[in-house]
Amino acid sequence: MPHKNPTLGDIIARRVGRRDLLTGLLATSAVAAIAPSAFGASAKGSPEGSRFSFEEIAHGVDETHHVAQGYRSDILLRWGDPIVAGAPEFDPAAQSAAAQARQFGYNNDYVGYAPIDATRGLLCVNHEYTAPEIMFPGVKQRQRAKETNFAAMTKELAEIEMAAHGCSVVEIEKGADGRWSWVRDSRYNRRITALATEIRVGGPAAGHPRLRTSADPAGTNIIGTINNCAGGMTPWGTFLTGEENFNYYFRGKLPEGHLEAANHKRYGVPGSGYNWADYHGRFDLATEPNEPNRFGWVVEIDPSDPAAAPVKRTALGRFKHEGAETALAKDGRVVVYSGDDERFDYVYKFVSEGRFNPSERAANRDLLDRGTLYVARFDPDGSGEWLPIVHGAGKLTAANGFRDQADVLIETRRAADLLGATRMDRPEDIEPNPVTGKVYIALTNNERRPEKTERPDQPGPDPANPRAKNEWGHVVELTNPDGDHAATRFSWDMLVRCGDPNRPEVHALWNKATSANGWFACPDNMAIDHQGRLWVGTDQGSAWSKTSGTADGVWAVETEGPLRGTGWMFFRAPVGAEICGCLFLPGDTAMTIAVQHPGIDGVKQWAPFGRESTFDDPATRWPDFKPGMPPRPSVVMITRQDGGKIG
Ligand code: FEO
Ligand code: CA
Ligand code: CA
Ligand code: CA
Repeated sequence: MPHKNPTLGDIIARRVGRRDLLTGLLATSAVAAIAPSAFGASAKGSPEGSRFSFEEIAHGVDETHHVAQGYRSDILLRWGDPIVAGAPEFDPAAQSAAAQARQFGYNNDYVGYAPIDATRGLLCVNHEYTAPEIMFPGVKQRQRAKETNFAAMTKELAEIEMAAHGCSVVEIEKGADGRWSWVRDSRYNRRITALATEIRVGGPAAGHPRLRTSADPAGTNIIGTINNCAGGMTPWGTFLTGEENFNYYFRGKLPEGHLEAANHKRYGVPGSGYNWADYHGRFDLATEPNEPNRFGWVVEIDPSDPAAAPVKRTALGRFKHEGAETALAKDGRVVVYSGDDERFDYVYKFVSEGRFNPSERAANRDLLDRGTLYVARFDPDGSGEWLPIVHGAGKLTAANGFRDQADVLIETRRAADLLGATRMDRPEDIEPNPVTGKVYIALTNNERRPEKTERPDQPGPDPANPRAKNEWGHVVELTNPDGDHAATRFSWDMLVRCGDPNRPEVHALWNKATSANGWFACPDNMAIDHQGRLWVGTDQGSAWSKTSGTADGVWAVETEGPLRGTGWMFFRAPVGAEICGCLFLPGDTAMTIAVQHPGIDGVKQWAPFGRESTFDDPATRWPDFKPGMPPRPSVVMITRQDGGKIG
């Protein structure tokens, strides 16, 4: 059973004296959380004592992107760029799966970097999902995640979608002018797709009967990776990619009374958002009831070896992995933080059994196959515990249907339910700060959190998720004892509660110094620069007009000192896009920002357009702005005009 939540009264009583209470959320006059902004809507520089020194840009929405004055924003990589040697140039009117499998994929999400030297390195990029109504001529708007309107889809279009999913590895280099570009025909350039890439299975679930299918009777070799959202880089330079909403790709009905029925239901399978099952039977539950168990993992890719098979690391658990950022424990064990992005799901970390070997790279190859997965319980007094998800411990026994550790990992969510972990407001990126040792957790929103607990799987507010109908999200800061990422206890605090500080009913929490442009809603991807400063990208989805009224963007956020909890707006996305893939290259003189799904989310609410986008009639043609060219998800490279450090 999920643990009982304390009442709001208990919570208030136990948290007296904590910063959160002092600043007002749980007090009756919640507006005390912040004074109305002292600054107008115009851009301004950062105040005395700030760690940031750029001139803030303004909230707003239009068809292109904006960055703070004094910065360059170059389009580095676009959907369709011919990255693999011999790939054809992108032609939106003549797309093919064969071409797409060698071109940069759709909807760039996480961006990681493996440096080769000071001016060259390998960019590792996720391609999360596809939007056929805006990618292909003649495909009408569909209702996302609902089974409708695949009438115009064909096998070729579905396979273009499959080839546009997955990951890219692309060599990039810095020119004499300080600008970065991708390297044509580099031997490292590679696509990993949902269509054709063979992926090995590692860890306790490898070969398990529940992972076996007719195409793979050994349960060790999976075609493709899907819905690759955020990720992380390991200390040995490999790329971890999280499989997030894998349920959308499955259709059909399980055979009557099938043993996987409850498991699939807990993960929302079948999600029926795509019609790939019409052409590839493995996505049809009637044909392959175990296929969904082969997705929802973290996949490890070695960008330095284009011939190496990626590996699904099952020891890290199966859920809707948002990301997989790593840190080293004091004793050299490797820790991977990962959120399960679903309303009322959980925050996890994995601690390896072995230690990172800095002198012999190959010794780290299978480090992520053995270790302990934990799920977080946030206690009302500001402490918390990491609960081990280990077969045989507590309720994780045969009596509850877990025969072995593989069962526990395949059904990570149910295991976490039984352990009494804290049901969170959609955990997105989790970012350990390598300078301070603190860890930042983006809880993006949860408009379904009720005022009061009526069912145990949808509890009312708790201290770590303090707002009912949380449309705006918040950022929690976790502190490890002695800065040790392997510790099983932690303390936590609220960094910001997002949303408009000038609307009392929002119960936002920002530092008073935050300007009219410095606040944001729906934190998603985050990055820490090499000076240890936090940057947050947002994803409001179609709700942007309600949650903030501005397009998504990137904000710098103070985490220390008197300005803690102050945001500064640095970058703004074009209409309909969310921000992913914020990453600082070594030295902080270059920063990537992945702009995902331009022209798609909530464009109907943008008055100058006021309708849904299609291929022929998109809300924006960012970034090319050429007739006939649809909007293209792209990675933007930010540099300073004077070559200095960003921010
Ligand atoms: Fe793919 Fe949770 O964002
Ligand atoms: Ca995300
Ligand atoms: Ca991140
Ligand atoms: Ca999101």
